[in-house]
Amino acid sequence: MKAFRIEAEGKLGRGAVVDMPLDALDPGSVLIRVHYAGINYKDALAGLAGAPIVRRYPCNGGIDAAGVVEASEDPRYAPGDRVVCHGRGIGVSHDGGLAELLRVPGDWLLPLAAPLSPKAAATLGVAGYSAALAVDRLQALGVKPGELPVAVSGATGGVGAFSVAMLAGLGFKVTAISSKPGAETWLTALGATDVCAPGDLDDKPLSRARWCGGIDAAGGPVLAKMLAACDKDGVIANMGNAAGVELETTVLPFILRGVTLSGINADNSMETRRRIWARMAGDLMPVGLDDWATTITLDEILPAMQRMLDNQATGRTIVALPAAVASI
Ligand SMILES: NC(=O)c1ccc[n+]([C@@H]2O[C@H](COP(=O)([O-])OP(=O)(O)OC[C@H]3O[C@@H](n4cnc5c(N)ncnc54)[C@H](OP(=O)(O)O)[C@@H]3O)[C@@H](O)[C@H]2O)c1
Repeated sequence: MKAFRIEAEGKLGRGAVVDMPLDALDPGSVLIRVHYAGINYKDALAGLAGAPIVRRYPCNGGIDAAGVVEASEDPRYAPGDRVVCHGRGIGVSHDGGLAELLRVPGDWLLPLAAPLSPKAAATLGVAGYSAALAVDRLQALGVKPGELPVAVSGATGGVGAFSVAMLAGLGFKVTAISSKPGAETWLTALGATDVCAPGDLDDKPLSRARWCGGIDAAGGPVLAKMLAACDKDGVIANMGNAAGVELETTVLPFILRGVTLSGINADNSMETRRRIWARMAGDLMPVGLDDWATTITLDEILPAMQRMLDNQATGRTIVALPAAVASI
């Protein structure tokens, strides 16, 4: 089988497409023929020696995958079932989705039902799931569509683009914050009501209230500015660090405006996963999902990861494994 396998390179790791024997694949009760797997920022860091993501080497990359059960010792799954898997250590401490086959415990899987195909599920992947989780969190904490928009940073990235589209689909106004010049037309088509650059945001510890909440994929100084411009009782959900891991802020947004900073981590219980996936198949499903992603082959993974780390990628990229290519 072919796999994007990451080997140790000093303290980090570097991936390459290799032929590997099935015997070497990590154990699990369900063997899945992967049709599509996403490329996430974390995958790019892991595959291109960007950060110490992988916990043991060698390890197949890919923190999400969707495909069809090939063999199962788990009574809940039978050959032919469509499934999706993300997190739970795949691509980090267990062989991941960027491979022809994935073998995991049945407890890590979610069954896929119409209207979600394996391609649509991989298109959503961790990026869509995290965006949906953040939208769900804002709603749970009382953010509602109104006069002020919700701000989304890293807006042209996977998480950011899904956040823009999901919020717009729920009737929110959306301010897309993007560092890419020229992304305005694309972001407006996704549903953004206005677009600005991180450099356009005020540097003051507390600035004019511009939004009622936010979804932050960037972190660092972008997050600090989002907090400073958040309206009274607003909520900023952070899940990313593309612009930096350090957060330099003041207490002013918290004590003078009652702003909440809420952390998003996508490695949730199966109960939460089922609920969020049901929302993604329902009220949070982006329009035209089947055509959302740029689809590449295994051989194109490394340049796609490099574009992501160079902040040259737009939207979501998925890899079509040979099984998907054969079924087209
Ligand atoms: N906590 C979790 O469980 C979880 C889950 C999923 C993702 N994440 C994190 O969320 C972030 C986004 O993931 P993704 O897969 O959507 O990545 P992605 O597709 O690469 O998107 C990241 C976006 O961030 C912006 N960006 C990149 N470098 C930047 C910089 N130096 N300054 C400002 N903005 C910059 C870019 O958007 P613009 O050019 O439009 O600004 C880029 O498209 C990553 O940090 C990822 O690790 C966390």
